[in-house]
Amino acid sequence: MNDFTFPKGFIWSCATASAQIEGAWNEDGKGLSIWDTYCHTPGRIVDGSTCDVACDSYHLYEEDVALLKGLGVQQYRFSIAWARILPTGTVDVVNQRGVDYYHKLIDTLIASGIEPVITLYHWDLPQSLQDLGGWLNRQIVEWFAEYARFCFKNFGNKAKVWITLNEPWVASWYGYAGDAKSHAPGGFQQHTPWAPYLCAHHMLLSHAAAYRIYEREFKNEQNGKCGISLNCHWKEPATSDPDDQAAARRAFEMQLGWFANAIFSKEGDYPLLMREHMAELSKQEGRATSRLPKFTQQEIQSLKGSADFFGLNYYMAHMVKSQKWSESTPNSCQRLRDGGYVEFFDPHWEQIGGKQSWIRNTPWGLRNVLNFVKNEYNNVPLLITENGCCNERYDGLEDHQRIKYVSDHLKAVSQAINTDGCNVIGYTVWSLVDNFEWAEGYTLLFGIHSVDFDDPKRPRRPKLSASWYKQCIQANAVVEAPQASSKTHV
Ligand code: GAL
Repeated sequence: MNDFTFPKGFIWSCATASAQIEGAWNEDGKGLSIWDTYCHTPGRIVDGSTCDVACDSYHLYEEDVALLKGLGVQQYRFSIAWARILPTGTVDVVNQRGVDYYHKLIDTLIASGIEPVITLYHWDLPQSLQDLGGWLNRQIVEWFAEYARFCFKNFGNKAKVWITLNEPWVASWYGYAGDAKSHAPGGFQQHTPWAPYLCAHHMLLSHAAAYRIYEREFKNEQNGKCGISLNCHWKEPATSDPDDQAAARRAFEMQLGWFANAIFSKEGDYPLLMREHMAELSKQEGRATSRLPKFTQQEIQSLKGSADFFGLNYYMAHMVKSQKWSESTPNSCQRLRDGGYVEFFDPHWEQIGGKQSWIRNTPWGLRNVLNFVKNEYNNVPLLITENGCCNERYDGLEDHQRIKYVSDHLKAVSQAINTDGCNVIGYTVWSLVDNFEWAEGYTLLFGIHSVDFDDPKRPRRPKLSASWYKQCIQANAVVEAPQASSKTHV
């Protein structure tokens, strides 16, 4: 009897995102996104590559759906490129050919028995909205709401599962911190230490606006669900020193809690711990107000309960040690300075996915996060919307490390459900296909299918993990990993 089983009806899925797979960056009336601009700026992407063609899924989406069908997944999570359907970002200009593309993709999925899961925003903001300040302009709440309504209205009679935003934490820190060089729009020289908090604030308000529109105008008739995908690293205290214990809790609340508390907790708002910490820090900095913006009572109410499920993206854990703001150097990472801690890896943790990989195989951290959500957020239904491991380019198809990573994490999920009683409804592997890994270009590849980026036809081929994942789906359990041959190195 297999110990690592899943309940009947457990959802198996794969994910991608528009900017990472579609290509066709300037075709058929698509507007520019901030990632088009970013990757066309020299020095931003490590291998000098772009997302101009990526996997060419705009033309090859039928091949992607065939792969999904072959796997036997119940769902496919993909995102809509905002600028492909609304080239200037607002409904003043509609690009019908872009709208048609998503209709074709959705129809092909449904005809193949696969439920579409649509992310509205996976980081590719229309450049024209960035030109007006992007996520730092409060008006974006209206722009996003309008875009969301457009999508619900156009696709909602067919697509029943919606995710408003992907990883607002990443978008806020990597896109808007002065020291972040890694994500669009990024690279601000004259950054302000307020920016990441403003971005996050507006993202939360945008999420709530979109959710309430869905709830009021579409949900009953369309009978769907709407949630959000939040990422976090499990934060493990480096020692039993109370300062380190407190720092680990603070680090976690300032990552997951920053977004989750407002939506999923009973009291709403930002976590009290974060509000107090930021108020104190801002005072120390000589400011009259906290850098963490404040919600009105009405906003708190609107955010509270604004999700039908919790989307979780998990990759790994961090060790955390307390470090007082006064002890950190002024040009060290703003996020860590603000949080009052440093983070690092335990040298015993297994680095996985190649020498350049940032991933450590820490599946117990996932189980801890799932239990945290269960305990703090009333065991809300949780869909794992991303988990996966990279390999390096030209590593070949025998991806034993990925299989080990996914297998270890699935086992942790199975235990969280069966032993701990966590309400996990499904698991999504990142990613269906190798794709444009943001600032890492094509150096780190996450697909369970490879894509040959040297071939203009972008042929896809299954890696070993794809056939193993298929067996897990069939068994609704973690099946044994295939043996590695002696020449295998991935
Ligand atoms: C996530 C992101 C994905 C993918 C993944 C692997 O943060 O949502 O788009 O890039 O990381 O790094």
